[in-house]
Amino acid sequence: MSHRFLAACRKQPVDRLPVWMMRQAGRYQPSYRAVREKVGFLELCRSPELIAQVTVAPIDEFGFDAAILFSDILVHLPAMGLDLTFEKGEKGKGDGGPKIANPVRTRADVDALRVPEPKKDLPYVLDGVRAIRTALQDRVPLIGFVGGPFTVASYAVEGGSQGFTRLKTMLYAEPRTAHALFEKLTRAAIVQIEEQIAAGAQAAQIFESWLGELDRADLEEFAFPYLARIAEAVKRTGVPSIFFSTGTTSHLEPISKLGYDVVSVDWRIPIDEARRRAPGVAIQGNLDSTLLLGPKQVAVERALSIVRAAGREPGYIFNLGHGIQPGTPTETVKAVVDAVHAFAWK
Ligand code: CP3
Repeated sequence: MSHRFLAACRKQPVDRLPVWMMRQAGRYQPSYRAVREKVGFLELCRSPELIAQVTVAPIDEFGFDAAILFSDILVHLPAMGLDLTFEKGEKGKGDGGPKIANPVRTRADVDALRVPEPKKDLPYVLDGVRAIRTALQDRVPLIGFVGGPFTVASYAVEGGSQGFTRLKTMLYAEPRTAHALFEKLTRAAIVQIEEQIAAGAQAAQIFESWLGELDRADLEEFAFPYLARIAEAVKRTGVPSIFFSTGTTSHLEPISKLGYDVVSVDWRIPIDEARRRAPGVAIQGNLDSTLLLGPKQVAVERALSIVRAAGREPGYIFNLGHGIQPGTPTETVKAVVDAVHAFAWK
């Protein structure tokens, strides 16, 4: 069966525009909150049955054109030797931010990190992928994902969502240590995405959310070579790859040449400008997720103006510029999905 999401990734014509939303399974959904009343966040990420349930729920509820594996970009850190918890992430609580009790600060810390073996260390993720594919029955394709090395390193080095100062200082003070860290995180990303694809993921998104922290010279030295290796590894599997970051539109041209099939852009760039500046790739994006918190009609109008600006050329996927925020009304999500699906050029 041909799926409009996969066709758009490959810049092929589609019957309707494909739409999905980052964090489409999450706290804005009453059904997700009900699951989280009973289990902690990491517990949820470790249950293949619950992974399948929460991944498929937004497909049934909103009619998205792709499912995304429910997991996290940090799930492998315990297997690498880092003591990860989600603060307030226990039963019933929300807003759990990641916390790492033994952050990576020295060359010895980096050398002690173990590259995970997904079959042995993360079997629940791969079983989750298989359970999702069974539950989806090929209605829509499944996107697997991993975090980008810089974004994962920011949590590993800072010990949580505490900014970027320690990691950026490491780049300048101990560049060899930083490279050794990015090297290990790149190998970890590659083995995980390869195994997710082998288990049944039909596309791969790399979440390099915080890449916009770096200037061009640091991107070229510390990020692009690793990101190109991840793209190359996905290319060898034959599934399409999507690169996501925020705050990086001033670097769109080099990012579009890293080897990914799709580049997901945030709201800081008009979508037509993104398409003009990155003609070699498909473009995904880029409604500001905050618009979904405002009046429904405004969100729908702004979504449709993005769709029109994206143009008639094949190779466009509607999404947000970053994840759906807690508190987003489900009716607004449904209205935006329906409006994008109903759109047709006159
Ligand atoms: O998009 C999806 O629906 C797939 C699931 C997914 C989650 N996290 C679930 C999650 C994906 C793809 C991620 C990626 C992720 N995780 C990123 C990159 C994307 C982004 O949003 O920038 C980052 C930086 C993380 C790390 C992380 N996980 C943080 C900083 C937090 C706490 C902040 C927050 O939003 O709660 C998490 C927790 C998390 N990951 C939740 C979900 C649904 C909320 C946990 C809960 O249920 O309490």
